[in-house]
Amino acid sequence: MPPLSWASEGRVYEWKSDYTIGNAPDDRILEQELFASENMVNSGINFKNYSTMSVSVKGGPSNLKPLETFEDSGFESVVLENVRRMNYSEPTPIQKNAIPIISKNFDLMACAQTGSGKTAAFLLPTISSLVKKISGGKLETIRRRGRGPFKASPLFIIILPTRELAIQIFNEARRFAYKTPIRPVVIYGGSDGYVQREQVSKGCDILIATPGRLIDMLERGNISLAHVRHVVLDEADRMLDMGFGKQIRGIMLSSNMPRDESLQTLMFSATFPPDIQVLARDFLKEDYCRLRIGRIGGTTTDITQNVIFVEDCDKNKKLAEILYDSPPSRTMVFVQTKRTADAVDAYLYNNMFPTCSIHGDRNQSEREFSLAAFKAGKSPILIATSVASRGLDIKDVMHVINYDLCNSIDEYVHRIGRTARAGNQGMATTFYNSKNEMVAEKLTYEEDVDFHDGDALSIEDGSGNREAQPWGQAKPSQPNHEWDYNPGSTSASTGSGW
Ligand SMILES: Nc1ncnc2c1ncn2[C@@H]1O[C@H](COP(=O)(O)OP(=O)(O)OP(=O)(O)O)[C@@H](O)[C@H]1O
Ligand SMILES: [Mg+2]
Repeated sequence: MPPLSWASEGRVYEWKSDYTIGNAPDDRILEQELFASENMVNSGINFKNYSTMSVSVKGGPSNLKPLETFEDSGFESVVLENVRRMNYSEPTPIQKNAIPIISKNFDLMACAQTGSGKTAAFLLPTISSLVKKISGGKLETIRRRGRGPFKASPLFIIILPTRELAIQIFNEARRFAYKTPIRPVVIYGGSDGYVQREQVSKGCDILIATPGRLIDMLERGNISLAHVRHVVLDEADRMLDMGFGKQIRGIMLSSNMPRDESLQTLMFSATFPPDIQVLARDFLKEDYCRLRIGRIGGTTTDITQNVIFVEDCDKNKKLAEILYDSPPSRTMVFVQTKRTADAVDAYLYNNMFPTCSIHGDRNQSEREFSLAAFKAGKSPILIATSVASRGLDIKDVMHVINYDLCNSIDEYVHRIGRTARAGNQGMATTFYNSKNEMVAEKLTYEEDVDFHDGDALSIEDGSGNREAQPWGQAKPSQPNHEWDYNPGSTSASTGSGW
């Protein structure tokens, strides 16, 4: 059954013109929906270990002082109240370091491991800065006046690769902008354009968008980028992989977005291959800051990783065996193709497993429905292609199974990063066989990953009591994980006007 409404219709705080910042009334029903603890990932027992991660900062403010607490941040009090509603007791390292850099208006390319709080690191300082400017009379939210044609004019745009990630970041923005005049809107492909245009036409201060739908609305004249002050490219490396490079360049360099000091550009990911570093040099101001927490492209050490040799013909049987032997818990099973996703879904379903699946051939209402069923625990086994590998933050995903090994280590890092978020523990099991020699070789290079040649795995309690595999601390294996990649003669033209 399709969902009753699109996720893009999620309710946002309705600001009225007679409200003042700090004195707007509560909306208890919305508050309950946004901050209910059953929907949130609680920080786990290893959250404290984040503080031991190495931090590298290049460029940026000369006297960078990392935050100790959120109270040190200078955030507007309405924003701080929302941080409290989220039950964040202290900032994660990416937040401690990125927030002061962003607050000082530097451009930033930031890399930190999956599940370590990058979203709040870019949403909080930008939302707080916009609220401050609005309350000081330095900035206005742009709303329709009268009945004439209206172009929404966002102050902040976030561009990201997948629809589900767009919806998730929209929900985070709804939380952090609660009781402020800032109105977030999300637009993404595959769903009703009319519904989204209606939302946009009510006014839009934060626009969260996938590239295709954003270009479509720009071309139709629904949106102007002339007043944008902040741009975030989340998971930019994935957008390039998906072939969105031209669209992103078009939006960044050929739209009416201001390309001067008033624009702040931020890029976030857990992996930064060389082509994305070239993009950063084209889009970011010359004095941009590079921030890295831990090793680039490292997985979180809170994931127990196992790799097992399984021939293709035995994969279904092995998967069922592992699922039978595991305690009931949310599990994501990644496959390489849409066809395999359907076939594995059908196999498990016929064997009485509560499964659902998500991939690019499903229509958007089916995708939203599947993800909602997985989140609610109605179908705690989700079969997914790479559409679900980036950014998704789902409570209590305990196990990620790579039924098919992916073609790149970066993709592996993101896939398994769907578990062990915010200092929780998790487990990843990867099937490999002779077809995966190239990637398996890179995996083996990481000498601490546990390899099995088809033995039964002891995963009975799923608690990660096998020895943790410290991938994140292993020696660098990939030249493309080097921070200071020098594009040399391959450098694309800068053309950014900076
Ligand atoms: N300071 C904090 N204290 C506790 N929990 C936090 C804190 N900051 C973020 N979180 C929670 O951690 C989880 C992961 O955050 P987020 O999705 O931003 O990670 P990410 O770094 O973007 O990961 P990915 O690379 O997979 O996109 C979220 O549920 C978020 O609410
Ligand atoms: Mg993220």
